[in-house]
Amino acid sequence: MKYLKKIDWNKKNIVKHLMFRGEQALEFRESALKLKQELFGKGVYLRALIEYSNYCYKDCYYCGIRHSNSNVERYDLPVDVVLDACQKSIDQGYRFFVIQSGEIKTRKFINDISFILKRIKTKFSKDVKITLSCGEQCFETYKLWKESGADRYLLRFESSNPELFRKIHPADLNHDFRQRMRCLEFLKDIGYQVGSGMMVGIPSQTVEDLADDLLLLKKLNVYMVGLGPYVEHKDTPIFGANGVLSKAERLELTLNVLAVLRLMMPKINIAASTALDVISDTGRFKGICSGANVVMFNQTPAKYQEMYSLYNRKDCLENNVSENRHALEKNVKRINENFVYCTEEVV
Ligand code: 5AD
Repeated sequence: MKYLKKIDWNKKNIVKHLMFRGEQALEFRESALKLKQELFGKGVYLRALIEYSNYCYKDCYYCGIRHSNSNVERYDLPVDVVLDACQKSIDQGYRFFVIQSGEIKTRKFINDISFILKRIKTKFSKDVKITLSCGEQCFETYKLWKESGADRYLLRFESSNPELFRKIHPADLNHDFRQRMRCLEFLKDIGYQVGSGMMVGIPSQTVEDLADDLLLLKKLNVYMVGLGPYVEHKDTPIFGANGVLSKAERLELTLNVLAVLRLMMPKINIAASTALDVISDTGRFKGICSGANVVMFNQTPAKYQEMYSLYNRKDCLENNVSENRHALEKNVKRINENFVYCTEEVV
């Protein structure tokens, strides 16, 4: 297949591929799926997602759980609820956990996460792997969490264009692009397997910006990527902003971004994010068909999931999530792929 040949993924070439539509796009994305299958086999790797807390110090202009959104009922999951959710997930076959929260820097939060990590690792053996996604923290906190049992850390840079980053965050030291980059360095230095990523279709973002995002992922030499379409949330300052692409267009772009990424960084873990399912009924499936190899299923108890609303999503309740899971599994089987809980080795 012609796309499996070495392509020089310079900015010009990336932009060209991001603009593909129709047949040309489908053929291109298929080559990314083929490459994924060659390297990872016919498995889609599952992760159990636990949304630990929706408290947040940050005030990102796009995010539903931003500090200033007083319509959010805030929660921390009690430790036993986290461990119960883990037990249920283990019983279902999961071995990989993603623990996500808003950004909180209190001593209590730092210690609670550390405690939970240790409990998970002692209770469920060292075989489980834990990814944390709890925002920007100081070097010592990242180190403490690593020593407590965290294996991986996911911190999206959201946009590699500092000007665009500035537009979607308050202009203060708490929302600083350079600090985000520093945190990614800390994580790498400490020895985490580091993941990052961006949103696709942020108001006023260009395809050139997205090409730069991809080049930054390459430069950071990330181990995994979480990226997804921007989805509007009515309680945020950029809701209804001018120049938001249609959902169909955000989907096309995101799928092309995934395909370029697979071809550019063949061996990394790439998630088909939940946001894809919000903008299209079969969004995550299409993500898999464009080279993504990871899916996260939300294992947070339903009553908390409703409160953890980063964007307006329709699959909040557990029922819908499992329905969604079945639909996705059926589709995945149609292309002769299977859900896989454990293995992850690249051939
Ligand atoms: N649309 C899409 N993704 C969002 N995130 C936060 N808010 C939104 C939104 N409105 C993503 C950010 C963040 C991750 C946890 O969720 O990229 O890093």
